[in-house]
Order: sequence, then C-alpha cells, then structure tokens
Amino acid sequence: MDYESVFRQDQAQIEAFLGKYLENSPQYARLQEAMRYSLLAGGKRIRPVLVLEACRICGGEVEKALPFACAVEMIHTYSLIHDDLPAMDNDDLRRGRPTNHKEFGEAAAILAGDALLTEAFFALSQAELPPDRIVQAVACLSAQAGHLGMVGGQALDMEEKKRTVPELEQLQSLKTGALLQAAAELGCIAAGGTPQQRQGLRVYAEKLGRAFQIRDDMLDVMGEQAQLGKPIGSDAELGKSTFAALLGLEACAGLVEELTAQAAQALASFEARGFLVWLAQQLAQRSF
Ligand code: IPE
Ligand code: IPE
Ligand code: MG
Ligand code: MG
Ligand code: MG
Repeated sequence: MDYESVFRQDQAQIEAFLGKYLENSPQYARLQEAMRYSLLAGGKRIRPVLVLEACRICGGEVEKALPFACAVEMIHTYSLIHDDLPAMDNDDLRRGRPTNHKEFGEAAAILAGDALLTEAFFALSQAELPPDRIVQAVACLSAQAGHLGMVGGQALDMEEKKRTVPELEQLQSLKTGALLQAAAELGCIAAGGTPQQRQGLRVYAEKLGRAFQIRDDMLDVMGEQAQLGKPIGSDAELGKSTFAALLGLEACAGLVEELTAQAAQALASFEARGFLVWLAQQLAQRSF
C-alpha cells in the first residue's frame, strides 16, 4: 500500500473512533455539542496518526493504540480551543469554521476544552493494554502536555517580548514539540517498544515538531486562509516573535529542510521507517 493510502486509512480509523467516543447524553447536550464541534471538525490528525504509526514501527498492534491516539487528539483540540480565546490569540476561524468561543461563547469554550483535557486521560485508561503501559502513557502524556511541556510553552508565548532564536526554539519545542513527542512515545509505549526505539522516536518527533512549528509560522505569512482553515497574519497582528519574523521565509525554508532530514536520520535503525520519513517530508511542504 502507498503511504498516502496508509495515511488516509489511519485518519479514517481515528475519525470513526472519535465519532463514537463522545456519546450523546441529553443532560449535557450543549457542552457535548461544543466538544464535538471542535473535535470532529476535521483537522489533519497528525498526532494520532503518529501514535498509530509509531506503534506499528515498534511492532505493536495498531488497533490497540487507538485510545492513546484519540487521547492525544483530544488534548490537541482542547489546546486549540483555548489558544483561540480572546485572552490568548483571539482568532475567529479554526479548522475552516468559526472558533469554538465564536460559536458557543467563551464560558462554553473554556469548559469544552477542560472537558476534552480530562476525557483524554479517561481514554488512556480504557486502552486494552497491560496496566503498566497505561501508567507509562499517563506519565508521558501528563508530563508533555502540562506546565513543563505544552502549557509551559503556551505561557511563554503569552509573554510579550522580543526573543532570540534559541529562546524561540525553546518556546516552540514546548508549545508544539512536546505533544508531538508524546504522540510518538505513546505509540512506542502501546507496542511495548524498547528504550532504544523510544529514544529514536523521541528525537524524530523533536525535530519534526520544530520543523512543524516553523512551517506553521511561515504559513501565517504566506498561506491561504481558505486552504489553511485559520486566519493569516494573526502572529504579525499580535506582534509575536516567530521564525518568519526573526529570520525571513527563505531561511525558514532551509531550517525546515534541515530539521526534516534530521528527523529522518533519527529513524535510521528502524527498518520500517518509510511512512514516518514520508510524513515528515509531506509536512515540511504542507500548505494547510
Ligand atoms: C495547529 O496544529 C497548532 C500548532 C501546533 C501549529 P495543526 O496544524 O496540527 O492543526 P490541525 O489539527 O490540523 O487543525
Ligand atoms: C499553538 O500555536 C500551539 C498550541 C495550541 C499548543 P499557534 O498559536 O501558532 O497555533 P495556530 O497558528 O493558532 O494554529
Ligand atoms: Mg498561539
Ligand atoms: Mg494561535
Ligand atoms: Mg500559528
């Protein structure tokens, strides 16, 4: 099967699992509607695909990793809902639709995010995997998503100040890299992979995360809103330090290429690395 088809098949499995996950309970209809609105809005699903393919490359059963994959996507979706709030990036468009707070109001958007974050850990607990792997997954995801990971990065991003390149690298590794790292490691944990496999995947995701956020900064300058599904120029409007602002687009493109090559290199010891190398290359050139 070609990589494009593998990607589409993984995405379909993830959509189906997420769709079934949040059941309709009339008691909390409005809250659940807000959760589903953002979760089922059709993002690229890069992080859950990474969980499934990291599991596969470590020799695990991909279906067993689905609760882990969906947990990461729930955390990611909550982070986007909160990132778009007026108190943060104040954006009106996400995944091609009005942002959660535009549609449901700020209080509901905050609560939908809170609920998705909490639900993610319930999803981990439901995986049909040995308990020690679930405990490892909880430790990994909470560390990478919390104050020493993604939330810490978002906090740095909220401080209005000019940054040096190393400071921005650190910020982006936290706000974006940490969750991608968690995704790769969760796949390895689901498979019962070795410490060496986990280390290789961690480095891959670290490089991928850096390239991914630089590309995101580039697209905020040169992307098309219709393709991207979120506003262009939001960073400039907020006066953010981004790689595009600091180095210019051409230098950014060179960095993305370099980091993508390093990501591929990190998987050298995996025989079945083809898909993940291809994925990194696709993301380096993405326009959405
Ligand atoms: C957007 O992530 C936020 C960043 C970390 C740059 P994605 O570009 O993966 O967003 P979706 O999930 O496809 O909407
Ligand atoms: C968001 O970074 C990172 C997280 C949500 C953790 P951005 O603010 O650059 O993401 P977009 O551009 O709004 O998707
Ligand atoms: Mg932001
Ligand atoms: Mg934003
Ligand atoms: Mg951005």
